[in-house]
Amino acid sequence: MAVTTQQLIDWKQQGHQITMLTAYEYAIAKIIDQAGIDIILVGDSLAMVGLGYETTLPLTLEEMLHHAKAVRRAVVRSLLVVDLPFLTYQESPQQAIHSAGRVLKETGASAVKLEGGYDEMANTVSALVKVGIPVMGHVGLTPQSVHQLGGYRQQGKTTVAAERILSEAIALQQAGAFAIVLEHIPKDLAAEITQQLTIPTIGIGAGPYCDGQVLVTSDILGLTPWQPPFAKKYANLHDTITNAVTQFCTEVQQGKFP
Ligand code: KIV
Ligand code: NA
Repeated sequence: MAVTTQQLIDWKQQGHQITMLTAYEYAIAKIIDQAGIDIILVGDSLAMVGLGYETTLPLTLEEMLHHAKAVRRAVVRSLLVVDLPFLTYQESPQQAIHSAGRVLKETGASAVKLEGGYDEMANTVSALVKVGIPVMGHVGLTPQSVHQLGGYRQQGKTTVAAERILSEAIALQQAGAFAIVLEHIPKDLAAEITQQLTIPTIGIGAGPYCDGQVLVTSDILGLTPWQPPFAKKYANLHDTITNAVTQFCTEVQQGKFP
């Protein structure tokens, strides 16, 4: 049965851990969906991992739509969530409705994710929810703000910063978000947020006390040259691919294949 946003809230109440991974294209999305992941995120990490940009900032809505459509064709069971790229929602609630509306209309995804939880962003989330667009929040380390944050550093380390992140999470829940990603914050803060909210928290580098966990798929597969400290490598596809390619080259050069 296909996963719904309501199902996630039930799972939180039942203490059933939610799983989420990223996908940017058809082949990987199909494997991940069939393997039983609960949520597939077409993350804007696409910019760095899939398209070779330095940060997530240059990614356009058109690029995101192109990849999200490919993933949609592969997904049967997972809930499909698509990140809104930088500057496709921050200007105004109207801009967010237009961008998120295009994502739902043109890709067939079920929900969007956006970063931040300050007052204006909570207003934007509530505008989206009012027109029937489910929204996943994202607080803590928000990579679209990398220049302001001064790097991909852990957030919420001081009491003031921690309280701000907690209040952002509460504001997002009140605005109608169905779940929130907590990225790179202390585990005790993540535990506190998880306990205070009725909607599920999905952690990345936020410790074990969240309602679910998300990682970037190319990190768990060992495809990326550099992984964040909180990622875990479950495979080494870099070496697997290198071996396959060198074997192919050697066999062709030595006349062993075909
Ligand atoms: O873009 C992304 O991959 C994300 C996840 C790390 C949550 O936002
Ligand atoms: Na993202």
